[in-house]
Amino acid sequence: MKTIMVAKQKGGVGATTLARELGVAAAAAGKSVVLVDLDPQGTLRGWWNRRTEGAEGEPNPALAAPPPARIVEALGELRASGADLCIIDTPPSVHPFLGAVMRLADLILLPTRATTDDLEALPAVLDLVEESGRPFVFVVTQAAPGKSRLYDDALPALAQRGRVAPPLRIRADFPVAAATGRTATEAAPRSKAAEEVAALWQFVAGDLARARKRAGVPAS
Ligand SMILES: Nc1ncnc2c1ncn2[C@@H]1O[C@H](COP(=O)(O)OP(=O)(O)OP(=O)(O)O)[C@@H](O)[C@H]1O
Ligand SMILES: [Mg+2]
Repeated sequence: MKTIMVAKQKGGVGATTLARELGVAAAAAGKSVVLVDLDPQGTLRGWWNRRTEGAEGEPNPALAAPPPARIVEALGELRASGADLCIIDTPPSVHPFLGAVMRLADLILLPTRATTDDLEALPAVLDLVEESGRPFVFVVTQAAPGKSRLYDDALPALAQRGRVAPPLRIRADFPVAAATGRTATEAAPRSKAAEEVAALWQFVAGDLARARKRAGVPAS
């Protein structure tokens, strides 16, 4: 099982949107996925409940919402259950349990908007990520569609500190799809939003495959 952690300091950076869009993209690519909601706000859980209400069979992605204090054991149980991929969504601000989760992650995603306010909030979580020694990538979220000066200025600043994944831009398709427990890739498969998720999933899947190769496990 591979583990992706979505980590952040600032609220509202699009972490939950990122987690559910990637989770559904991974499931569509044939992976058995578990979304893990560590946020007491329960945003991911609420979306998943809307999604699965009245549905039959085993949902993929599945959902787990263990108490943060039990996250290490919970990940062990998910691994034993045969899941391929686990994506962990976290609450805003840096919590003491985040370091332990980071050390177990195969890849840490750091979503951020391209504003100065957001970029200035990054070091608090980035220091913790760098301490964990685990691979990480920045994902710029809610960038303005088309030419964006903020996005263009943010890229070199981020690239100095790490790798930068393809962005998700401001697209109404994301919240509109989420209202009915879906993703943009499901509700608007030919949209720009869906294209952006596909590019991001390809990038992330490439990173996970490289992590698997480094660990000496053949690609599945
Ligand atoms: N790319 C996007 N385009 C348009 N709206 C977006 C986008 N990403 C997120 N949103 C909307 O912005 C709000 C915050 O996004 P989201 O809940 O994903 O962020 P978060 O970082 O998980 O927030 P929190 O800190 O509360 O956990 C939500 O209403 C979401 O639907
Ligand atoms: Mg959230």
